[in-house]
Amino acid sequence: MNERVNVKALFDLTGQVALVTGGSNLGYDAAEALAELGAIVAVTRRRQAEADETAARLAAETGAEVIGVELEVTDEADWKRAVAEVVDRYGKIDILINNAGGRKVSVVPETLEEDPSFEFLETRLLEDWKYTMDANLTSVFLGCRTVAPYMKRARSGKIINMASIDGIVGRDLRIYPGSGLSPTVPDYLASKAGVINLTKGIGVSLAPFGIYVNAISPGGFYRKQPEQFVENYTRLVPLGRMGRDRIDLKGSVAYLASAASDYTVGHNLVIDGGLTSW
Ligand SMILES: NC(=O)c1ccc[n+]([C@@H]2O[C@H](COP(=O)([O-])OP(=O)(O)OC[C@H]3O[C@@H](n4cnc5c(N)ncnc54)[C@H](O)[C@@H]3O)[C@@H](O)[C@H]2O)c1
Repeated sequence: MNERVNVKALFDLTGQVALVTGGSNLGYDAAEALAELGAIVAVTRRRQAEADETAARLAAETGAEVIGVELEVTDEADWKRAVAEVVDRYGKIDILINNAGGRKVSVVPETLEEDPSFEFLETRLLEDWKYTMDANLTSVFLGCRTVAPYMKRARSGKIINMASIDGIVGRDLRIYPGSGLSPTVPDYLASKAGVINLTKGIGVSLAPFGIYVNAISPGGFYRKQPEQFVENYTRLVPLGRMGRDRIDLKGSVAYLASAASDYTVGHNLVIDGGLTSW
């Protein structure tokens, strides 16, 4: 029989050092969850001034120790510099959250509004496709491989990769006509599917070193999208609403970043109000 461990102690991150990429919106929420559980947090933005601003806000709101670090997540040399910066200062990285991601849409087809089956397939510029793959998928690969040697040495670590329900299912294109928004681009779906299986692959290879790699797949979060879009989208969600910033992501981050998930590897935790469950 094992000794009893209090569940609150399992979630405690006191003394742990975390690196969270792309600290706006969901990245900020993830960093906030870690800070509230006691971690020291290094939060990255593309520019140092933005990173410093985000860090100052998070430190003021949580009372935690937070630093801002500049990082372009598609650049391996920049990863090495940013990770070294954190390790030089704190001696380790216990938690990495590969959150930053994005897409580029240089050409929006004029027919998009009338043709709901149009998912940018024929007009997609190859350079835009490559941009998305780099920002969403190559970035995760680079992040994992830059921190892995440090975590291996420590024989412990938690890595969370931000995927999406767009990596699990295609979009229901019927919600778009008249909604004020257009469907996402195919490279976004492909890159997020890549993140989910990359997480499994890296997860099994790093598990023997005590390093846990898992993914989170959020559904749509409410960001003042057009009313008609919100109505159409929420009809697809069993819970009947979109995700809430500052609330709905945080529990999943707390779980996968802490000892609470110490028997969970390669998992993709879906936070979508049930959208992909029917
Ligand atoms: N918002 C949603 O509803 C939703 C749903 C599913 C998944 N996601 C995923 O969650 C993550 C965060 O989403 P969000 O809504 O907070 O997005 P966001 O666009 O608000 O934030 C993304 C952050 O990543 C940064 N970033 C992008 N490319 C970068 C690069 N090359 N180098 C450095 N930084 C870069 C941006 O500057 C920004 O700070 C993303 O990976 C996104 O794909 C979001």
